[in-house]
Amino acid sequence: MNIILMGCPGAGKGTQSAKLLQTFPLHHISTGDVLRAEIASGSPLGKQLGEIVNKGNLVPDELMVQMLEKIVKSTDKGIIFDGFPRTVPQAEALDAMMQRLNRAITHVIMIDLPAEEVVNRICSRRQCKKCGAILRVDIKNPLEKCSACGGELYTRPDDTPERATHRLEVYRNSTLPVKNYYQTSGKYVEVNGNQTPEKVFEDITKILEK
Ligand code: AP5
Ligand code: MG
Repeated sequence: MNIILMGCPGAGKGTQSAKLLQTFPLHHISTGDVLRAEIASGSPLGKQLGEIVNKGNLVPDELMVQMLEKIVKSTDKGIIFDGFPRTVPQAEALDAMMQRLNRAITHVIMIDLPAEEVVNRICSRRQCKKCGAILRVDIKNPLEKCSACGGELYTRPDDTPERATHRLEVYRNSTLPVKNYYQTSGKYVEVNGNQTPEKVFEDITKILEK
C-alpha cells in the first residue's frame, strides 16, 4: 500500500497519518516535517528553506523531488505521502520515481475541509517537541504542556492567520490541480474532513480495507 494523503492546510493529514501508523505497518513521509527538521538543523540549506516555508510558499519542485527520492529509497515499507505531491510536476515526478523503483501509488485520499475552517484549525494547533503529537487547543486558554506526554508545545511559524490564508491561496493555485491529475486514475477518493478525527479515520480505513 502506498497512499497519498491530500488536503488543504489543516485538513488533518498529519492527524490521520498518526492514526494510520497505529494500525498499518507504513512509513510516514511528511514533506513539511522533513523541511522543518532541515530548518531546525540550522544548515545553510535549512536557512534557505526557512525563508520559503515560514512564509507559506512552496519549495522548488526539483529540490523537493530530490529530497523525497532519498527517503523513498531508504524504506521497503509501504508509504504514506503527506504533503507531497503539491504541484502537477511533483505528481509527474512521483509517478516516474515509483515506476523506476518498481512501486506504485495504490490510493489517493483527499481529506476535504471547507475553506472557512482552515484558519481556525491552523491557529489552534500546537505540536509537542518531545513526542510530536498534534493537538488542538482552545486559543483563549491554550495548554502549556502536551496532554499526551507532558512535553513542551510549540506553534509553527507559518501558523498565523495571515500565513494560513496565504497557504490556502497557494493550495488553491498550485495543489488543487493535482486533484484533477489523479481524478481519472481510479485511485482517487474523497473523505469528509469536517467530522471528528475518529470518524475521518473510520472512513479512511474503510477505503483501505476495500
Ligand atoms: P505541511 O507541513 O505539509 O503543511 P500543510 O499542508 O499546510 O498542512 P498542515 O500540516 O498545516 O495540516 P494537516 O493537514 O497536517 O493538519 P493537522 O493534522 O496538523 O507543509 C508546510 C510547508 O512546507 C508548506 O507550506 C510549504 O512551504 C512546505 N512544503 C511541504 N511540502 C512541500 C512540497 N511537497 N513542495 C513544496 N513545498 C512543500 O491538523 C491541523 C489542526 O486541526 C490540529 O490542531 C489538529 O488537532 C486539528 N484537527 C485535525 N483533524 C481534525 C478533525 N477531524 N476535527 C477537528 N480538529 C482536527
Ligand atoms: Mg501536517
